Amino acid sequence: MSFKKHSSILNKNKTSLLQFQEELSSILQKYKITNKNIKYSHNSNGDIQCFCCEIQGTLFDLYSQKHNSDLSYEKIYEDYKYSPRTRENYFQIYSRRYIGSKHKLLSWIFSIITKECSGNSFADIFAGTGIVAAEASKTYKKIIANDFLYSNYAIYKAFFENTEYNYVKIKSIIDSYNSINSQYLADNYFSHNFGNKFFSNNDAKKIGFIRDNIETNKLNLTDKEYHILVGSLIYSIDKIANTVGHFDAYIKKASIKDSFLLKQIDPFPIDDISIYRQDANLLARSISADVVYIDPPYNSRQYSRFYHILENLTKWDKPKLYGVALKPESENMSDYCRTNAKSKFAELIRDLQAKYIVVSYNNTYKSKSNSSKNKISLDDIKNILKNKGSTKIFEKGYRYFTTGNTDFQNHKEYLFVTKVQNDKRS
Ligand SMILES: C[S@@+](CC[C@H](N)C(=O)[O-])C[C@H]1O[C@@H](n2cnc3c(N)ncnc32)[C@H](O)[C@@H]1O
Repeated sequence: MSFKKHSSILNKNKTSLLQFQEELSSILQKYKITNKNIKYSHNSNGDIQCFCCEIQGTLFDLYSQKHNSDLSYEKIYEDYKYSPRTRENYFQIYSRRYIGSKHKLLSWIFSIITKECSGNSFADIFAGTGIVAAEASKTYKKIIANDFLYSNYAIYKAFFENTEYNYVKIKSIIDSYNSINSQYLADNYFSHNFGNKFFSNNDAKKIGFIRDNIETNKLNLTDKEYHILVGSLIYSIDKIANTVGHFDAYIKKASIKDSFLLKQIDPFPIDDISIYRQDANLLARSISADVVYIDPPYNSRQYSRFYHILENLTKWDKPKLYGVALKPESENMSDYCRTNAKSKFAELIRDLQAKYIVVSYNNTYKSKSNSSKNKISLDDIKNILKNKGSTKIFEKGYRYFTTGNTDFQNHKEYLFVTKVQNDKRS
């Protein structure tokens, strides 16, 4: 299937099937691509076509790959099909803007993981939106989800925790919040700081009022109900924020329209889930799982700063704010965004107790400043993982990353899968 389109390019001026097969086999060898199932045939134009069930890509793609290190990459046919859950009028876990979310890559990631790894437990220790942990729960019995942001932790509790909540009660609380006329509300901490900047002033008043009210009524809510309400507020404000998708800055506008509506998240309970809000390097010393998935930040973008309003709204201790973007004193600053990232990654890998370590890596962030370039290189990752076991590296070429955005033309996603040596598993 995959070589069909460009097979004639390879076969230019050649008629022999044998020659074609020889040339193909040398390319596959060069890129260390496994192929157990290649079939050849002539099409109606007389071109030789080649069908392969393990590789996604054309020979043209393979020729056009330019690798500047001695790393070799495998491609995989995506036979795992992720299908997003939907429910009208509810937010799903993927319904949010989050830098580095792997939502669009789930079919590719799980095509690899389900083929390369086995076991019962899966830990997502830089879980971000939680979408990878959510998908893993369809294959693995025991799930661990961790991220050191307060807002992400609250979201995992809201979606994943398998504890009781009263559906009717939540619906009536949300309906009552939506019926409030924000014009009659007094200004509050949220509107004072973020009104007419990140939100219209009326919307900011309503968001601040709702958050205060959830806190005041905390004792009348179960832990699950509390987190469903806070989680729903986080997803709802993301939908209307006057930003490009994160809170590092707001868009300067003469006026911002009122558009806030509180919509509920759709819980996705997981039977056996452990949720943490810890530094991944510390957590690594106390957990173990068959598969540990690692997706840290690789450049200087600090998530706690980019999502400071979500953090503020979740913690709700109303700190003093600074600067144009109204950020609090810094907290949860990641070493993975600093110059010591490489040694932190090495420490993490050393301490992990797992049968398989799966690491995502990409080069998505375009920055003019050198300090913002990736803090860890592909070679660094490979060399660090070498100490733990044998590693395969998978690559998803830009041709298959359909963002429709020319800025992403050189986007490459990589997945490292290390089968940990028996003596390095604990
Ligand atoms: C690239 S994002 C993960 C995206 C996630 N895989 C998804 O699909 O949504 C990296 C995450 O790591 C978290 N993070 C950064 N440093 C951390 C640390 N030292 N410990 C725990 N989490 C950390 C950030 O808050 C961020 O959510």
